[in-house]
Amino acid sequence: MVRLVAAALFFANALQAASAGGTADTKALKNLVHQDCGSCHGLTLKGGLGPDLRPKNLEHYDVEALADVILNGIPGTAMPPWHPLISVESANWIAQYLLKPETR
Ligand code: HEC
Repeated sequence: MVRLVAAALFFANALQAASAGGTADTKALKNLVHQDCGSCHGLTLKGGLGPDLRPKNLEHYDVEALADVILNGIPGTAMPPWHPLISVESANWIAQYLLKPETR
């Protein structure tokens, strides 16, 4: 049930973010990361239902692999695929943002 509510919330917000500019609208994307990803990974991305998304925990990913996880999700888990909602460009931006938040 909690999962359903989280999913509904995240779809509503993600649609808002996606329509807020289409491509790399960094403010909307940052918001999406903290609100939508944060609904499962924690508002400060320290982990919740999903694992810690701070750079230290993502060291084993490069931008491409991380963008791939974001776009395709992790089948068989609660990690949803984001490709219906965001562009490849947005996923790349998010991957870079997660790996190096201080540069954004
Ligand atoms: C509905 C809940 C939910 C939402 C929303 C969600 N995730 Fe996840 N995510 C998970 C779960 C659960 C896992 C762990 C899956 C597993 O067991 O491997 C995960 C795993 C991940 C991983 C792999 C972490 C690792 O240590 O290998 C990354 C990266 C990730 N999510 C990024 C994101 C990003 C970026 C967003 C927002 C665009 C997002 N997630 C939104 C639930 C969610």
